[in-house]
Amino acid sequence: MFVNSTHSTNTLMKELIAAGNPPKFIYTGYQTAGRGQAGNSWESEPNKNLLCSILLPPTNEPFYLNVAVSVAVQRLCGEEVTIKWPNDIYWGDQKLAGILIENAIMGAEVQHAIAGIGLNVNQTEWHSEAPNPISLKQIGGKTLDLDELMERLLDEIQIVLSTPQEEVWAYYKAHLYRRTVFRPFVEREVSTAPTMNANANANAFMACIKDVLPSGEIILLDREGNERKYHFKQVRYVL
Ligand code: BTN
Repeated sequence: MFVNSTHSTNTLMKELIAAGNPPKFIYTGYQTAGRGQAGNSWESEPNKNLLCSILLPPTNEPFYLNVAVSVAVQRLCGEEVTIKWPNDIYWGDQKLAGILIENAIMGAEVQHAIAGIGLNVNQTEWHSEAPNPISLKQIGGKTLDLDELMERLLDEIQIVLSTPQEEVWAYYKAHLYRRTVFRPFVEREVSTAPTMNANANANAFMACIKDVLPSGEIILLDREGNERKYHFKQVRYVL
């Protein structure tokens, strides 16, 4: 279902679920209150980018949906694109797409998930405080058709959801951003807003990615050979 404009496709999907007859997916040209991770807003000029929410079936392991959707978006964007744990889509050190997965209860108990995806497609100037956005047009030079991309994304999601989970996991791990090299990470300080702290990266440590667990936790290997395990709110890459 396409709508010209809405507050947020994820919020609209939740409302339609509550009303009892949700579509399989919603996409829009413009969001007045697009939502990102961690309470951030999601920037998008009108009719420039792919802004969609897709209704997904429940899985045995909630984090697996992040894996599946990240893989689908990565495959849509191209082989040189990487997945920044847990679920950002990157080109080099720049963010090409973001994913926001939210749970929704339908009827008495059937739990579904809403996969909100914002893929930067034809926008070439950025106005928000997001540090490092980039679009497919900035990478490839071409203006792309948003309806066609929406169809291709739905196809990719279908393919990934019908592929055995072990294969999808292996693909996810093989396409992780900075997966083989030692790069700086820093433990997140829960009580300190990162932008207020001039020394936010002072405690950075060098590590490479050893694994990502079914729970979504990452295992980093530091220079001293120690394994360090984190949930995604506990550590971040230093870009
Ligand atoms: C992130 O912060 O990386 C996640 C961004 C998710 C943005 C998309 S745009 C379509 C959908 N509707 C929303 O309000 N957010 C998601």
